Amino acid sequence: TTVLVLNGPNLNRLGTREPEKYGSETLSDLREQLEAQAPEGITIDLRQSNSEAELVGWLHDAVDARTPVILNPAAFTHYSIALRDAAAQVSSAGIELIEVHLTNPHTREDFRQVSYISGVATGIIAGFGFGSYRLALEQIAGR
Ligand code: DQA
Repeated sequence: TTVLVLNGPNLNRLGTREPEKYGSETLSDLREQLEAQAPEGITIDLRQSNSEAELVGWLHDAVDARTPVILNPAAFTHYSIALRDAAAQVSSAGIELIEVHLTNPHTREDFRQVSYISGVATGIIAGFGFGSYRLALEQIAGR
């Protein structure tokens, strides 16, 4: 089984981006850690895009291939109806879609209090850094 780990805008900058909030590890570190944590038989397909269109296309592919998704929508969380509509197709097809965040958006600015994704996610994990992804992977692997 493949697990698609999708990351939205600015997450390619992990390691240098506001390290006091997002830590000093990079997206490559995340890929390595998830690959090491993945149980036998689970392949991690980690991708990042700054483009809403590309993320939407990847979610369509997940529906067609019936691939479970761990999604950090980054800033698109807070305003992208297009990404929500794409995510809804995943969960409505009975495929797990877990929304993750490195930080806990509820401790942050007001504009981060709204998620357009949460209403169509199977579940949400936020605030544990790379641990948010690890917990999501454990959940998917446990099924
Ligand atoms: C984030 C939280 C979002 O509010 C922010 O726009 C991000 C990262 C997180 O992982 O904590 O880019 O999704």
